[in-house]
Amino acid sequence: MIRAIYPGSFDPVTYGHLDIMKRAAALVDELIVGVLNNNAKTPLFSAEERVRMLKDAMKDIENVKVLPFEGLLIDFAKQMDACMVIRGLRAITDFENELKMAQTNHKLSPKVETVFLTTSLEHAYLSSTVVKEVACFGGDISQFVPKSVEKMIQEKMMEKESVHQ
Ligand code: PNS
Repeated sequence: MIRAIYPGSFDPVTYGHLDIMKRAAALVDELIVGVLNNNAKTPLFSAEERVRMLKDAMKDIENVKVLPFEGLLIDFAKQMDACMVIRGLRAITDFENELKMAQTNHKLSPKVETVFLTTSLEHAYLSSTVVKEVACFGGDISQFVPKSVEKMIQEKMMEKESVHQ
């Protein structure tokens, strides 16, 4: 039984993440999407909101679970009895940080392997940061995120606007 973790901030989830998730789910018995709940970061969406958007986006894939986690990824992997961490690699710019993370995690727990999937070409430029920036200036994000996520982003932007008025 191969159980893998696909961890991330997913603030918000994009078509790039969903592509990696679907391809990873086809390779393993169970894929746990781990949503980082980090108080030090100030995400646009709470961990609960991000879990909700991911559950909705992945509802048709049977072997995928979405759970929040805090603290070290490797502790979460051990807690879930997972032997693999999946990460997506977009470009060479991702590589340095991903290599550092994978090697640190391997030092902390040699039993957990990090496996990289290369992002599909059509999503190579995409990031949550870019989606937030385009949305913030009223741009069209429909080609970057699913409809349900687009709606959540628009609602969040309106909420923020009403707070600043
Ligand atoms: O989507 P992101 O922000 O690139 O995901 C980064 C994530 C959540 C995978 C990473 O920050 C993480 O694993 N955080 C948990 C803390 C941890 O385990 N740090 C040690 C590894 S360097």
